[in-house]
Amino acid sequence: MSGLRQSLPGATITGWAAALPDTVVTNADFEARLDTSDAWIVERTGIRERRFGGTTSTLAIEACRGALKRAGVEAGDVDLLILATTTPDKRVPATSSIVHAELGCRGAAFDLNAACAGFVYALVTAVSMFQAGFRRALVVGSDTLSRITDQDDRGTAVLFGDGAGAVVVEATPDHELILSHDLGLDGSLLPILYCNHAGYIQMEGREVYRRAVRATVESAARVLSGTGTSGAEVKLFVPHQANRRIIDAVVDRLGIVPERSVIVVDRTGNTSASSVPIALTEAVEAGRVEDGDLILMSGFGAGMTWASALLRWGT
Ligand code: COA
Repeated sequence: MSGLRQSLPGATITGWAAALPDTVVTNADFEARLDTSDAWIVERTGIRERRFGGTTSTLAIEACRGALKRAGVEAGDVDLLILATTTPDKRVPATSSIVHAELGCRGAAFDLNAACAGFVYALVTAVSMFQAGFRRALVVGSDTLSRITDQDDRGTAVLFGDGAGAVVVEATPDHELILSHDLGLDGSLLPILYCNHAGYIQMEGREVYRRAVRATVESAARVLSGTGTSGAEVKLFVPHQANRRIIDAVVDRLGIVPERSVIVVDRTGNTSASSVPIALTEAVEAGRVEDGDLILMSGFGAGMTWASALLRWGT
């Protein structure tokens, strides 16, 4: 169900950016029309507000433009674009086609759906594809979950938001970026979280919570033990942002220094495949990471999928 692999080609992340829609939806906005309260939402999830708006492609394009600018790379020099999403703009073509055309990228592009683990899946895939000769990748997570959430269902409406985050990853023989990774899936858990075509997200919240903690802890522990790293050595933990309590439970069980985990869920809600690159961008821009630091990324989501990667930062 899960596979730990090592020895990926050398790579470095040279650009990063996030894009959030302008419309802020606060807990008070839900309180005004649903049987819920700011106190309940904050206590159970840590979420205070989230952003709604845009489309998966427009948010992805904005994040990609920011990441390209930060990297000093022209879109025409990108030869691989991987867009992780569960909320594509169209059934066909892939949303990455829209982004590719709008930006003027070259080479290959495809969408990847691994739900909220999508960005880590996509990052590992991109670096793996350097083995096949690709040199410069845009990896973007973009989701507009507000479009597939029943805004009248208090059990899900308060949890999700829209956003995108992107990185530029370049092949280099001089730096080992991904020290170890663990991507997996347990398909028997499909019924606890899914969304049918033209339907809304269906979720058994308590069971997802339980499984998410377990899957994240086990996957991250495999990645750490695969390189003989302790949780205390992790300089930055960039988890999927679904629920503050899930993050805190994972940090506690892995022995990670709590101040080293990145938290954006309070301001974004759960942005699915976007949450890890949004959190990474915020932490890097805040100067929380230096060359040589170990970064642990982890995600989990519908499927149920999970993905962890231990990175060594180096620009
Ligand atoms: N406001 C007020 N009450 C709410 C509510 C809301 N927004 N949503 C649910 N409730 C109620 C439930 O109806 C239930 O009421 P009942 O006891 O009368 O039946 C009660 O709160 C407790 O529900 P429960 O689901 O047991 O609460 P919880 O502590 O597990 O918290 C979640 C609910 C959804 C916040 C939590 O389970 C969770 O975060 N799960 C993981 C979700 C997730 O991460 N999904 C995405 C994965 S990528």
